[in-house]
Amino acid sequence: MKDEVLRGFEEQYGKNDSVKAYFAPGRVNLIGEHTDYNGGHVFPCALTIGTYGAAAKRDDRKMRFFSMNFDNGRIIEVSLDDLEKSRTAGWTAYPVGVVWAFEKRGFKLDKGFDMIIYGNIPNGSGLSSSASLEVLTGFILRDLYGFDVTNQDLALIGQYSENNFNGCNCGIMDQFAVAMGKEENAIFLDTADLSFDYAPIKLEGAKIIISNTNKKHKLTDSAYNERRSACEEALAELQKVVDIKGLGDLTEEEFEAHKDAIKDDDRRIKAKHAVYENQRTIEAVAALKAGNLERFGELMKQSHISLRDDYDVTGVELDTLAEEAWKIPGVIGSRMTGGGFGGCTVSIVKDEAVEEFKEKVGKAYREKIGYDATFYTVSIGGGPAVI
Ligand code: GLA
Repeated sequence: MKDEVLRGFEEQYGKNDSVKAYFAPGRVNLIGEHTDYNGGHVFPCALTIGTYGAAAKRDDRKMRFFSMNFDNGRIIEVSLDDLEKSRTAGWTAYPVGVVWAFEKRGFKLDKGFDMIIYGNIPNGSGLSSSASLEVLTGFILRDLYGFDVTNQDLALIGQYSENNFNGCNCGIMDQFAVAMGKEENAIFLDTADLSFDYAPIKLEGAKIIISNTNKKHKLTDSAYNERRSACEEALAELQKVVDIKGLGDLTEEEFEAHKDAIKDDDRRIKAKHAVYENQRTIEAVAALKAGNLERFGELMKQSHISLRDDYDVTGVELDTLAEEAWKIPGVIGSRMTGGGFGGCTVSIVKDEAVEEFKEKVGKAYREKIGYDATFYTVSIGGGPAVI
């Protein structure tokens, strides 16, 4: 893809000797869903699919953007003196938001830049195409302007721009997984203090399969923000009776002992998911480290059930994919991944069952939902890079 983005850059902007090519991955979360804004644990990994880019600095205060993903693409021009205008500007609101977030941190761009991107993460699939673009932009800015920021800062800047420029109140998981990715490792991250450990994923005789619902409509942002508010209100109620900073501080037993402080049934059940899912994630990583993949898979299933029944973020498409997968003996585990309401499931499938998995799950999905799901066998990749 390096040659393609460099060629694309030249076609759009003309020859430029200082242009460089870059990559930032997408991510899949293995377990720990809707815990990252509750001070809980997550266990994502970066993928080898992601967003490619090419960029070079300019001599004036213009930024120009072009996406090779759109057939009728056109160059979109934004002035460094008029960032606000881009808040609702479609995909360019992400890279412009990152520039805006850098400036908020005191990293001012003296000159603009030209940038082209090409992404091979299926759009709206819940594999973090937006975090990938944010971290890619941050990585490019660091490289072009020499800003003194770490990869972890790139994650925080990406999240800050998404929260405050793009209006989605997401947690830190996606940007962190993208910025800190390591080949063949998942990241066991405690979102309460950003301490983390890499955990090698050695799946002997099994593969990670992502199944895409291809669901056309996502009601993501508003429903996502609602879930987050419910957890925050439940936390405030719990804090009247127990000294905690986040729902991730509670064990299941502590939650059961104090849950009556939450005055609303729906909020109580949402908070329950956050607490139980966090504990499940801790247990799952311990099981994986102990070589007990079967237990890991069982906890993936429990995670999906909790997201379906308690947190209410799955929907018939994701449920069909997960429930059909569970019926196949060679499936170690399967669950929705990411924010939910559409997007993808992640499954760990024994090598010999992969074909059967795609065929049976695919057929059942088509019959029930009326259109096809798409399956990808993925590999765990590294973080952002100059390529
Ligand atoms: C989205 C958000 C993440 C996280 C997940 C759910 O991907 O961007 O911060 O909250 O949903 O686990």
